[in-house]
Amino acid sequence: MLTALYFGFDFSEASETLEYDDEQEGINDEIVIKFSHVVAENTPKARAARKFASLVETRSNGEIKVEIYANGSLYNDQNEYAALKEGHIEMIAPATSKMTAHDPGWQVLDLPYAFSTYDDVKKAYEGELGDRLFDHLDSDIRGMTYWYNGFKQITNDKRPLLLPEDFKRTHFRIMPSPMIQTQFKALGASTSEIPFNKTYSNLEVGFIDGQENTASNIFSKKLYEEQKYMTISNHGYLGYVVLMNNDFWEGLSKEHQMIITNALDETTAWVWRHAIEMNDSHLRQMKRMDFMEIHYLSNEQKERWKKKFKSIYQNTDISQSLMEELKRIQEK
Ligand code: LMR
Repeated sequence: MLTALYFGFDFSEASETLEYDDEQEGINDEIVIKFSHVVAENTPKARAARKFASLVETRSNGEIKVEIYANGSLYNDQNEYAALKEGHIEMIAPATSKMTAHDPGWQVLDLPYAFSTYDDVKKAYEGELGDRLFDHLDSDIRGMTYWYNGFKQITNDKRPLLLPEDFKRTHFRIMPSPMIQTQFKALGASTSEIPFNKTYSNLEVGFIDGQENTASNIFSKKLYEEQKYMTISNHGYLGYVVLMNNDFWEGLSKEHQMIITNALDETTAWVWRHAIEMNDSHLRQMKRMDFMEIHYLSNEQKERWKKKFKSIYQNTDISQSLMEELKRIQEK
């Protein structure tokens, strides 16, 4: 009783039979999809997740509920994949770069200047290359679709980065991707793998000089507050692979699977258009704020970067068939 008083809780209630409450009826039949991600609310991925959730809930008449955990509030970069595999959550949408830790094939999407247009990215994600990468997934994970964010730009606090020489003695935050590490090494910079939601604090204390990301991630996480220079380099594309726990998927009825598939298709088409608009708008806002000096690479400067990256294409552990698939897209 002393314990009960201490906690302010009367244990005798626990053994009482609850009265019938019609509002609780069917509550145990509701299917819940816990969807964990690491970015801020005002970003392509977070908005896509909300759109998907709303489509699924409406079309299933509330039979399926999608609970979204943004900003790494439930799981972060380092543990969301394991949580999905173990079935603690049902969905994640990591940056494709983060999949390189599980299979080197995913590095094909991180090759510097792999894609020069948004259309080429779409061809990769929605075509043969994207399908082939799904085949690389573990059997307990199901690849559902790819979502879009945008081309990466580079920010730093030391100096404008226009030529490879400018990277000398700079230290960058990177996602866990050997290919991205090689890319910075080719430019003459050193790197540390740091989770997305620790990037701001590491810039703040000066452990890193800079980072690469899309305008929407730089803007929504206010990274511009700690950075003086931004280079519009478009040297890589940051997009997402939407993954589901396979046992959970197999346990769904055909009708529910159809609702989810259709909602994802619609969301993918939506985020393709909106991600471009969102990144343009966030870049415009950062220009207006004048916190960073923003430089656009000239064609000549870009060629100097590409020259540095040439050897990366010759020495990769990406399979020849994936490289050929990328080449087909580049040559079209
Ligand atoms: C990053 O770690 O920089 C990005 O992957 C964050 C994201 O999910 O967009």
